[in-house]
Amino acid sequence: MFRHAAGMSSLSEAFDGWIRSSFVEINTALENLYFSQDDRADVTRVGADLKQQLRDEGHVHVVALLAEGDTGDGFSNAFGVLGNVGLYLGALRRHELTNPAREEKSPFPEASSLAMHVGAALGMAPRFSTAHLAHQNFAHAGVRKSFTSLPDEILFIDENTRGILLLQLAADALAKVVPLGISSPIVDVPFAAAKHALAGVIESNTRLFAKLDVERFFYSVRPYYKPYRVGRFEYRGANAGDFSGINELDLLLGLCRANDPYYAQLLVDKMQFMPPDDQARLRECMRHTSFLDELLALSGKHARADWFRRNARGYLELCDLFGRIAAQHHDELVKRFIENPAANLGEAHQSGLTASGPPLPVLVRSLEVLRDMRLAAKRNDIATRHSDLERLRRLVEP
Ligand code: HEM
Repeated sequence: MFRHAAGMSSLSEAFDGWIRSSFVEINTALENLYFSQDDRADVTRVGADLKQQLRDEGHVHVVALLAEGDTGDGFSNAFGVLGNVGLYLGALRRHELTNPAREEKSPFPEASSLAMHVGAALGMAPRFSTAHLAHQNFAHAGVRKSFTSLPDEILFIDENTRGILLLQLAADALAKVVPLGISSPIVDVPFAAAKHALAGVIESNTRLFAKLDVERFFYSVRPYYKPYRVGRFEYRGANAGDFSGINELDLLLGLCRANDPYYAQLLVDKMQFMPPDDQARLRECMRHTSFLDELLALSGKHARADWFRRNARGYLELCDLFGRIAAQHHDELVKRFIENPAANLGEAHQSGLTASGPPLPVLVRSLEVLRDMRLAAKRNDIATRHSDLERLRRLVEP
């Protein structure tokens, strides 16, 4: 399906070349200027010439591509153009050359038109998404796309991508249980593969937690993920959750339910931020009965059978790993890299902290709900699978 370089028009190839070179150099130089100030969050006082260079050089590519009006040369070309124009707009937002709070429409009409054209053609939001920087970030001679060449951004992109790929692999493995049925003697194979992948996510999160520099991430990486306007509409920022694998796991394990109002809202919201193949997978997995519901339905007659005890134990082991990943994300990554540094930030810089836009305490509470669903925590205010999972655990206790 993918065609690279050879499938690109010479104009989209030139834009891609610029995004992979001057764009990275200019952003990196600007980040180093901001970071050396007393107030690292103030991006308005320095680097006017570099910001102008970024805006003007990118504009030349955008205008040429818009005039060409041809994005039809295969999926990968259109997807690549959408990512590149999105990275350009994301950087303009980061450097405060645009800010949705003070504008009614984007001050970059040509870039907006190009993004809307390709976004609509692909069936995606007209902005860069996680896939552009993570699991569909095509490397040239060992170098993947990024905003800057700062080691902390590269670490963040790479560990995010590892986490995404491993969660996708776990979801691929568990999808193979569906046609076998949860009582099958063969589920040990997909369960083992999923277990291996989930353990890899825990390792990747642990590395990120230990190695990522808090200040560099907070001041020089995170701001590229803010919402920005395309045309008249504001689109939320990209986050590492914009791929279907995580929700496939939620739904197959049965820890979240597609008919839960909170969770359904989340699924609807993220649909347009994913590539079409991910959108299709998400729709598909909403149609299956979860393993938990299947096991509970079988428990009445078969709780003492060997196959039931073996498969239910395997299932519970996967839930434990998945819950640990959710707790790591919230209690370690979000806390250390966003909540703590935000608490030290002055009042003037509190707005625009999050990728999706709501004030940080609101976002943190909503992420907490997800953590607790995935942990099957005991909560009275939201529906979790706590009592169902406890019941299953008691049934298969040694
Ligand atoms: C420094 C590391 C990380 C930080 C600070 C972080 C923070 C966040 C924040 C703040 C959100 C909510 C975005 C918003 O709506 O504004 C989010 C969403 C999400 N992130 Fe991360 N994240 C990190 C790494 C990762 C990694 C490595 C993964 C694994 C692939 C991941 C998976 C997710 C998922 C799945 C979501 C969507 C919500 C959900 O389904 O849980 N994140 N993250």
